[in-house]
Amino acid sequence: MTVNRYRCQLHHSAHERRLETHPLTWWLRDDGECVGLGEYVAKDGYAVVRQVLGHQGPDEVIETLKAANIRGRGGGGFSAGVKWSLTLKGENLPRGYLLCNADEMEPGTFKDRLLLEQVPHLLLESMILGGYANDSFYGYIFLRGEYVEAARAISRAIEEARAAGWLGRDIAGSGFDFDIALHTGAGRYICGEETALINSLEGQRANPRAKPPFPGQSGAWGKPSVVNNVETLCNVPAVLRFGADWYQQLSGERSDDGGTKLYGVSGKVRRTGLWELPMGTPAGELLDRAGGMHDGCTLKTWLPGGGSTGFLLPEHLDLALDFNTVAQAGSRLGTGILTLVADDQSMVSLVRNLEEFFARESCGWCTPCRDGLPWAVKLLRALERGEGIPGDIELLEELAEDQGPGKTFCAHAPGAAMPLASAIEYFRDEFERGIAHPGKDDVMPERPLSANGERGDAER
Ligand SMILES: Cc1cc2nc3c(=O)[nH]c(=O)nc-3n(C[C@H](O)[C@H](O)[C@H](O)COP(=O)(O)O)c2cc1C
Ligand code: SF4
Repeated sequence: MTVNRYRCQLHHSAHERRLETHPLTWWLRDDGECVGLGEYVAKDGYAVVRQVLGHQGPDEVIETLKAANIRGRGGGGFSAGVKWSLTLKGENLPRGYLLCNADEMEPGTFKDRLLLEQVPHLLLESMILGGYANDSFYGYIFLRGEYVEAARAISRAIEEARAAGWLGRDIAGSGFDFDIALHTGAGRYICGEETALINSLEGQRANPRAKPPFPGQSGAWGKPSVVNNVETLCNVPAVLRFGADWYQQLSGERSDDGGTKLYGVSGKVRRTGLWELPMGTPAGELLDRAGGMHDGCTLKTWLPGGGSTGFLLPEHLDLALDFNTVAQAGSRLGTGILTLVADDQSMVSLVRNLEEFFARESCGWCTPCRDGLPWAVKLLRALERGEGIPGDIELLEELAEDQGPGKTFCAHAPGAAMPLASAIEYFRDEFERGIAHPGKDDVMPERPLSANGERGDAER
């Protein structure tokens, strides 16, 4: 029986990939099936665990990671080595947790899914090394609930690794004990925020926690905990095998950030999918690799890394897709998975759709997010219907300003504000077309004062 499955598509065949140039995807099979333990070990998988455990101290591992400067691929870009060096550890301190963030609910993002479904042993090997460096006794993979195929692959890999002695007591005869469990989420975007993830894992409501204390000081069940993204972690074995200089040089002249990046493209392009390329690859190269836009479509704008990043223009296609360069252009690298928007797509509808998602996913703790996002959605719906009133666009700008960095407990609201503010900045005329122009005898409704429109048209 043929089983039709959706697969994240990687667009390099096996003969184009080498471990030294494609440390994340070299392991993958061309047929997209999951790489089992036998195949992984035959490709020298788990060799780095044997090389490091008992032969290098945790501090030495962290120094290598710091020198490599693997910047967090969950979107924040914080150095994994620095994060690990800040984790509380020591003889008189409790051993903690290594938490892998595999929630991947960022709109338009599908990169971790590839690694989770097709090479779960690479993640397990990375977590064993991360657990060793951070003195963790247990690891959790917090997986997006809808990733059913990934859940199957990971569960099988954990069983295989346990049976082969890569998990459990005295791993590879080193005296280091570490095990991993899979935890599937129940479908909330906010669970991807690291402290909300910890609350959810503990069985509590998934609100973010106030920081400090940071998870590295007091995280899951009050123990020091490290939270890292799937892609970030999957870089660790190759860095420990080939060294920090090799990692830095992978990006060549393209970027000050080292390594490769799992970039992806979706939208009205000929070929959606994923590519592992040097960090700092320009977006224009990705558009070329995607075969350009659909026939009859012209690129209008693009998001560099998911729904919570700011729109950029075709003139930005030459910029290096790395953390600093994209930030200087007024957006964020985010997940590095591009969403390309064609000229026949309405910016008002697109942003309304995104803001509906962010409004629904707010945990409700802070006012600008809980009340501001539904209010923005109401205004956007009115503009979409051509029933906006003068002042609505300015009000949307004010709401985006109020949701900016530092005004809420977590980065959810600032992330929601970015596409809204940048869409208005670049495509104001489209928003203005949503303002009704009444006849001289018509009475304009008053601007609503709150999200539930207490003053003004209840429908708005
Ligand atoms: C609303 C929200 C959702 C997030 N979702 C994810 C996610 O799905 N996966 C992820 O790795 N990081 C996500 N993050 C970032 C995490 O809070 C955290 O920074 C990250 O997991 C740290 O790993 P890294 O340093 O390896 O990037 C999210 C942040 C916010 C504010
Ligand atoms: S910004 Fe939004 S999601 Fe984040 S804590 Fe505040 S209400 Fe919750």
